[in-house]
Amino acid sequence: MLNRDKVHNLRKKYISPSFSLSYWKPLYITRGKGQYLYDDKGKKYLDAINNIQHVGHSHPKVLEATITQLKKLNANTRYLNDAIGKYAEELINRMPDKLDTCFFTNSGSESNDLALRIAHNHTGSSETIVLDGAYHGHLISLIKISPYKFNGPGGTGAEKDIHVAPTPDIFRGKYKGGNASSQYVEEINKIIFKIHKSDKNISAFFSEAIMGCGGQIIPPKHFLKKSYALIRKNNGLCIADEVQIGFGRSGSHFWGFETQDVIPDIITIGKSMGNGHPISALITTKEIASKFNNGMEYFNSFGGNPVSCAIGRAVLKIIEEEELQSNALYVGNLLKKLLNQLKTAHPIIGDVRGKGLFLGIELVNDQKELNPLPDVAEKVINKMKDKGVLLSTDGPDHNVIKIKPPMVFNEKNAYFLTENLDLVLSNI
Ligand SMILES: Cc1ncc(COP(=O)(O)O)c(C=O)c1O
Repeated sequence: MLNRDKVHNLRKKYISPSFSLSYWKPLYITRGKGQYLYDDKGKKYLDAINNIQHVGHSHPKVLEATITQLKKLNANTRYLNDAIGKYAEELINRMPDKLDTCFFTNSGSESNDLALRIAHNHTGSSETIVLDGAYHGHLISLIKISPYKFNGPGGTGAEKDIHVAPTPDIFRGKYKGGNASSQYVEEINKIIFKIHKSDKNISAFFSEAIMGCGGQIIPPKHFLKKSYALIRKNNGLCIADEVQIGFGRSGSHFWGFETQDVIPDIITIGKSMGNGHPISALITTKEIASKFNNGMEYFNSFGGNPVSCAIGRAVLKIIEEEELQSNALYVGNLLKKLLNQLKTAHPIIGDVRGKGLFLGIELVNDQKELNPLPDVAEKVINKMKDKGVLLSTDGPDHNVIKIKPPMVFNEKNAYFLTENLDLVLSNI
């Protein structure tokens, strides 16, 4: 095994500097198992951040499914194969009735780009409404709909056909009171009015039901439901980006959109779907998919290949067999309770929020001014790393500590995380 310095030097020499590394002193991780990662010296870390390795690092059943299918066949989707149909059926069985047609892709970005293409095709428009702070992917089409990027370092702001609605954040957002939900919906109404005034029509409202990079934001009750109604009244499509929050992570529901009691026209999924293997999908209605089938075929060299589908099926089965959704609910509730106890002891914890194993801790100077503390958040995650717990920061101000571990995260892990966070916060 190469030593740490050599590995770091290779990285610096040959990998583009825009690939970022976590932590002041980057980790050299050489092994993973369940909810744990191990560095080159064998030090064990509790992984509280890798939501991609949904059923746990190096799950033996994912490995077995990969090898079994790889030994038999891997090819593109131009031949009949049982894996793609069975996997699509299993995904669609988890969906509301009208979402019954799948496209397979290889990353969340690819799914979201396809969603935009389908929406443009369906509505003849590119006028898209997005939530401030949102991130939807790294392609040029997605940087364009990601305020997190186009308003961040190196960004060049919103293009003319992209309309940004305020983050529906009731802690530090534009509206916080009892009327916040209606006030945020009214902002969307104003955008629709502006689009119509310029003689255009809406293409889509693109959102996450719980915002990830936006800072683990749960919109106020009815926000999404009322916004969807408004968009549909004006013939736009409602697209739910489930790339971070799908597959039972919220604990109470299998899909994030279900937590807001809405049914999207298009949903995009990825990340956790293949437990680290690059597979993703877009699911929509027959009607929308049929209109998109305008003669220009959809071909994807890797999307929906038998190996990816076998892995996706194994992940679904493990979620079921190991009851990972109910684990997310139970452990997530416990963890949230413990974090709320820390909030009483540490005034810089302004807010603890989220659902299931998708939580955020927002650090602010005090409860009145609510000024974000990104430097403190960064210090906390670095100190936590030294204590053997991996976390990250996010949100437009980078002052939200994110928790989104593999779904096998257990009670003991919740106590270990909060006890160490208590120690770190006490010494800051
Ligand atoms: C909400 C959301 N959508 C889309 C993406 C893009 O997914 P990918 O990195 O697989 O392209 C991400 C990635 O972090 C994401 O968080």
